[in-house]
Amino acid sequence: MSAAEVFSLFSRWLHIMAAATAVGGTIFALCVALPAAAELPADAREAFHAAARRRWSKIVMAAITLLLLTGLFNYFVIKTNYKLLLPRWYEPAFGIKVLLALAVFAIASLLAGRTPLAQRLRTKSSLWLSTNLLLVALIIAISGLLRTTHPPTGPAPNAEPAKTAAGEKI
Ligand code: HEM
Repeated sequence: MSAAEVFSLFSRWLHIMAAATAVGGTIFALCVALPAAAELPADAREAFHAAARRRWSKIVMAAITLLLLTGLFNYFVIKTNYKLLLPRWYEPAFGIKVLLALAVFAIASLLAGRTPLAQRLRTKSSLWLSTNLLLVALIIAISGLLRTTHPPTGPAPNAEPAKTAAGEKI
């Protein structure tokens, strides 16, 4: 395995780790933290939400940054290596995935933020967290579909065949 292939595998791993962290955190917030906080007295509930939000917002920002950086890098690698192999629907499906991801990022950032709009959104936290989970389920389905269009590693089918110093094909 070449160094470039190892790096691209590492980038995929980071992408999946960031996605798993964000999805896991959202499920935890929706199914555990919100219902548990609802059982607390009002002032304790507010303090809990503020403390949890402070911590979660850092994780959300790190996950968004990693998903964008590794996602763009993965896209560049796949387009370079498998240009001739990718079906015509690859680009539109990828475009829909990115648009859905941007919507998820916007909702997650607003829910974790401190603006007046964020405060209004948080009055319906369960609804917005469920919306994000639904969008993420769609994103993962599209990602799985994109993944079926090319082999994982190894020489790209449309790559130039390796040649000797004398220019003969190996
Ligand atoms: C909520 C946001 C996102 C989630 C949950 C997500 C999840 C995933 C998952 C599960 C995979 C499959 C990995 C594999 O099997 O190798 C994947 C692949 C990929 N993602 Fe994302 N992703 C997100 C955002 C993004 C963004 C913002 C971009 C680009 C800017 C992006 C670009 C890609 C690319 C290029 C692939 C490889 C597709 C292929 O194999 O053809 N992703 N993503």
